[in-house]
Amino acid sequence: MKKTIIVTGGAGYIGSHTILELIDKTDFEIVSIDNYSNSSAETFSRIEKISGIKIYNHPIDLCDKKGLFDFVSTLENVVGIIHFAAFKSVPESVENPSLYYHNNLESLINVIEACKQFKIDNFIFSSSCSVYGNIDSLPVTENTPFSPAESPYAHTKQIGEQQLELYAKCGVNFKTIALRYFNPVGAHPSGLIGESPINPPTSLIPIITQTAIGKRDKMFVHGYDYPTRDGSCIRDYIHVCDIANAHVKALNILIERKTDLNYNVINLGTGDGVSVKEAIASFEKNAGLSLNYEMGPRRAGDVVSIYSDTTKSTDFLHWTAEKTLDDMVTSAWIWEQNITKETR
Ligand SMILES: NC(=O)c1ccc[n+]([C@@H]2O[C@H](COP(=O)([O-])OP(=O)(O)OC[C@H]3O[C@@H](n4cnc5c(N)ncnc54)[C@H](O)[C@@H]3O)[C@@H](O)[C@H]2O)c1
Repeated sequence: MKKTIIVTGGAGYIGSHTILELIDKTDFEIVSIDNYSNSSAETFSRIEKISGIKIYNHPIDLCDKKGLFDFVSTLENVVGIIHFAAFKSVPESVENPSLYYHNNLESLINVIEACKQFKIDNFIFSSSCSVYGNIDSLPVTENTPFSPAESPYAHTKQIGEQQLELYAKCGVNFKTIALRYFNPVGAHPSGLIGESPINPPTSLIPIITQTAIGKRDKMFVHGYDYPTRDGSCIRDYIHVCDIANAHVKALNILIERKTDLNYNVINLGTGDGVSVKEAIASFEKNAGLSLNYEMGPRRAGDVVSIYSDTTKSTDFLHWTAEKTLDDMVTSAWIWEQNITKETR
């Protein structure tokens, strides 16, 4: 009997790319749970178009424990859960913290309880570099202690990680790897899957492509007087397909019991810091366009500068990011043009 992997948030941006990578690189049966709060069922038609494989999605809210348990009890031979489902907008979490504490933490508790109840032994948690807050020393290693969270969103990731670490210490049945993504961007090379949230995007690259295509009149660089080389914030942008590939590696390490540790954290970044202005310049060069942007005020919740140390991801996961910034902006631009064509 095939081993089954549950992917929560499988209709979302990173979940859908990871499902494609799982289809491509493994023999697992894949089942998604996603309530489409920031996505749509269309994702699964696109996954089928690319891969020829139909993925079943159960559209329940993971905060509904009974609904989750009823569904998981129907599945057989579940060996792992990759838990992507969460709300992820920093500005929205600053406006409505309770929405984030409720959705991100309640769903996590229920998924953990499902691992215990149904004896699911392997758990991958979507974390974020936002757990580090504003830090003094760069690049960031996994040993860098958490600074106070800059947003309720970041706080939900800190709490989620701490919870999983303590569960591991208390001797739960499952092993966990928390993957701290830096800034996932770009789209699948098919041009059929990319970031298409129901809610307006708040991350840089989709805002750039939406401005370039005319969905936005102009965009703002949020903060131009930070203590960085050009005054704008610095991030470690990483291609979503590289992130997806890291999940497959992490999952296999757990399933094949290649680690003795019950809990582990790993940064997923390229190790290169890129400023907002540099990302805009890369887009303009690759797309051959001039973007309409202005310098704007700083945004609450934003950290100034962050990029990853990649030693642990290389040593532990045997993984390094392969795609360049040019790949990221080019694939995102192809995706933007494709979805815009389809909806016109
Ligand atoms: N994209 C990023 O920049 C980024 C960076 C760091 C960490 N992360 C984390 O990675 C994960 C995936 O991010 P993404 O970019 O794919 O986001 P996304 O919004 O595209 O995908 C998340 C999916 O989860 C679903 N979902 C949310 N709450 C749910 C609930 N209660 N029940 C069922 N489904 C629910 C949404 O409908 C959506 O399809 C999230 O946990 C996010 O916090 C993302």
